[in-house]
Amino acid sequence: GMGNKKREINAPLIVVSNRLPFVLGKNADGELVRKQSAGGLVTAVAPVVVECKGTWIGWSGSFDLKPNDPIPESDPEDKAPTAGLKSSQIIPVHLDKTEIEEFYNGCCNGTFWPLFHSMPDRANFVSRDWKTYCKVNDKFADCTLDALRDAIKSLDDAGDHQTAPLVWIHDYQLLTTATKIRQVCEAENLRCKLGFFLHIPFPSWDIMRLLPWDDQVLQGMLAYDFTAFHIEDYCLNFIDCCCRRLGCRVDRTNMLVELAGRTIQVKALPIGIPFDRFVQLSEKAPAFLNMSEDVKVILGVDRLDYTKGLVHRILAFEKFLDKYPEHREKVVLLQISVPSRTDVKEYKQLKDETELLIGRINGRFSMPNWSPIRYIYGCLSQEQLAALYRDCAVALVTPLRDGMNLVAKEFVACQIRTPGVLILSPFAGAGGTMHEALLVNPYELDEMANVLHRALRMPLDERELRMTQLRHREQLLDVNYWMTSFFSSMGALSDGGGDSDAN
Ligand code: G6P
Repeated sequence: GMGNKKREINAPLIVVSNRLPFVLGKNADGELVRKQSAGGLVTAVAPVVVECKGTWIGWSGSFDLKPNDPIPESDPEDKAPTAGLKSSQIIPVHLDKTEIEEFYNGCCNGTFWPLFHSMPDRANFVSRDWKTYCKVNDKFADCTLDALRDAIKSLDDAGDHQTAPLVWIHDYQLLTTATKIRQVCEAENLRCKLGFFLHIPFPSWDIMRLLPWDDQVLQGMLAYDFTAFHIEDYCLNFIDCCCRRLGCRVDRTNMLVELAGRTIQVKALPIGIPFDRFVQLSEKAPAFLNMSEDVKVILGVDRLDYTKGLVHRILAFEKFLDKYPEHREKVVLLQISVPSRTDVKEYKQLKDETELLIGRINGRFSMPNWSPIRYIYGCLSQEQLAALYRDCAVALVTPLRDGMNLVAKEFVACQIRTPGVLILSPFAGAGGTMHEALLVNPYELDEMANVLHRALRMPLDERELRMTQLRHREQLLDVNYWMTSFFSSMGALSDGGGDSDAN
């Protein structure tokens, strides 16, 4: 609310995620330094951890950091949201090569990722990988417990024997971390509040039951006081699984699950983006496209992942060129594919398949001065992305399945000039709220071609109307709103005496 005091988090905060909020790597002189990582989660949560002097626990993402190495302080020039994080606030979890292979490549990205995206044919069930997953999750739990004991001691020393520190654990890499934390807390009588957020979809019982260790995963997710997902569908899937696999008593209306005499609150909290930051970026970003005025750019930006529907998208674009030849030489599909999980077989295969397909289509349609598809396999800076989002005519966001999809939201935030059109898959979490986008089933290639044709011919006033509403919603429901809602749902916000409750 306007003019009201800001509500602040009322307990020590410990954030736990697979990756630390920055990447560690060696610079030209061989020194270990922090490198920026661009995610919206980091942008929102890091400043809060700085402000409340909290702790962040995660894997350094690098074999260069050895167990007793100090975490480097941030560069004085550093302007990243993590710059204010002192190294004393960071607890690195060390993973060796075998753990990365079995935990990260094997179980996280070879089992849970495909299964939770409802692609069970791509999932491997390897009991050695699952064992390592549990072991690594216990490692994360041990680090969290150390931080928790420290936090409780500081509170006790200050005469506060009431406040319970808040532990916030993130995503599918850490599904069983809370099991050990709760066990030890009960045994040693440590006070804490445990919260979880899943950043990917949660599948239906029909899919979940394929997992040989479904009971242990569900129990892990019920070791929290509060468990949140992007959308209501994922919440209801989870509640259904708890009911059918574990026989829990559940209340679907109020989203409650009972296990061993405890009640766990479930809630849908759709994540947003740092909207104003993307607006600022797009206001100052120099043009990155220098194409002739009468060539329109259709933009795709994704991690190179089979859930993103890239092959379907490119085949639909080919259909579009066949069916509507008037667009030849007038449009370009610019696809940015960000390298991801390159040691996992499915990802290697996708790279080859994509490159082959683009080569074939470019060979088929190219003219001396025009090719239909431009393809970048690599990372762009935030500023370059903002310029592309701002200057393209159409954004194609067509995942086969996606927890939320932030590209759709970043695109509308950057549309500060002549508005373009968002084409969006209903199978992304974002498809449930961004109603003014053109929604299309990515498996229906013909429909995708038609929708692309419609988008390119959409009159300016209709584009304006749709984009204004899309931007308004994302500005309101940004990543800060999401984070505040999470803390508020956990009862972890001080009463600022105002009406600024995000719920
Ligand atoms: C998704 C997941 C995140 C993950 C990110 C990048 O957004 O929800 O947990 O960090 O992909 O993947 P990576 O395997 O590189 O961490």
